[in-house]
Amino acid sequence: MKIEGKEYRTIWLENNIVKIIDQTKLPHTFIIKDLKTVKDAINAIKTMEVRGAPLIGATAAYGLVLAIIENNDQSFLKKSAEDLISSRPTAINLKWAVDRMIKKLSGVNSDKILEIAFNEAKEICEEDIKFCENIGLNGLKIIEEIYHKKKDTVNILTHCNAGWLATINWGTATSPIYHAHKKGIPVHVWADETRPRNQGANLTSYEFNEEGVKNTIIADNTGGILMQRGEVDMCIVGTDRTLSNGDVCNKVGTYLKALAAYDNDIPFYVALPSSTIDWNIKDHKDIPIEERNSDELSHVEGLDEKGDIKKIQIYPKKSKAMNLAFDVTPAKYVTGLITEKGVCEASEKGLKDLFK
Ligand code: MRU
Repeated sequence: MKIEGKEYRTIWLENNIVKIIDQTKLPHTFIIKDLKTVKDAINAIKTMEVRGAPLIGATAAYGLVLAIIENNDQSFLKKSAEDLISSRPTAINLKWAVDRMIKKLSGVNSDKILEIAFNEAKEICEEDIKFCENIGLNGLKIIEEIYHKKKDTVNILTHCNAGWLATINWGTATSPIYHAHKKGIPVHVWADETRPRNQGANLTSYEFNEEGVKNTIIADNTGGILMQRGEVDMCIVGTDRTLSNGDVCNKVGTYLKALAAYDNDIPFYVALPSSTIDWNIKDHKDIPIEERNSDELSHVEGLDEKGDIKKIQIYPKKSKAMNLAFDVTPAKYVTGLITEKGVCEASEKGLKDLFK
């Protein structure tokens, strides 16, 4: 997708250096950053210079390419894989991508391993783009249906950033919206601000602005009243881990939006590539929920009147704060899962019928 009219992906390789867009600097500064070592890749994931389930998976895959360039030895590769998996706990795509790379690379001759690793990391990215594009085409049908009934702008609420910046291109939740926009269907997005890191305001609204999609940022608590007023036609969110029973783990606050949508009879869809399905965990209480530093709550960053970026404290210094990053929306509140293979019910049967 485009930034200032120029096409970008979120991650690419140039002369054995991994290039990323540093998302901690958006929307005020656009910086392309170099990752030269596996440590750089781990740090980029931990500090959220790259974030979003599919993108952290792709970064981990390229992290292993960097590990091989640094030290072409199986024990270093194994240790790097472990460190990458533990860099963020909730999104399953991270482990999925590392496991896929290691399956290809274990026991491979040292003279061939770099080429194989490079090809597999590239394939993970190409596949994600194709899957996100298909998610868009499948979700487009739902938006079209609403538009044909309503014959007016379709208002879509989304939470956090499940946009192209969270994937390699297109995004998951945003892909149906981009496809509808490109087809000339009038769409307008309510972008939840998504405290504390403001991915909705800083990233979702930013990427929609760059693509010319109408959007309005709302405080995280505003969705409910907009739904009661009939100003939301549907919700589409992303996910970091979807269980085989259809329970959906996503950015904290998603659950409350799903409850409000359910109470107001508004369709609530979750968009995901199959790399986000966890076929092993059966009970959502077993999903590792990331708890991040409370500084993310107590401090905010933005432009001051001179245009310089400033970080300020907004809470009483003595107050404690808790920063859980994800929550789980039970399957019963999810209208459907929009995947690369089609739209299915959020249930074991729905997922198994699509992904035998
Ligand atoms: O903490 P983040 O910014 O990595 O969280 C991102 C989300 O919760 C997204 O909705 C999810 O990863 C889906 S991305 C296509």
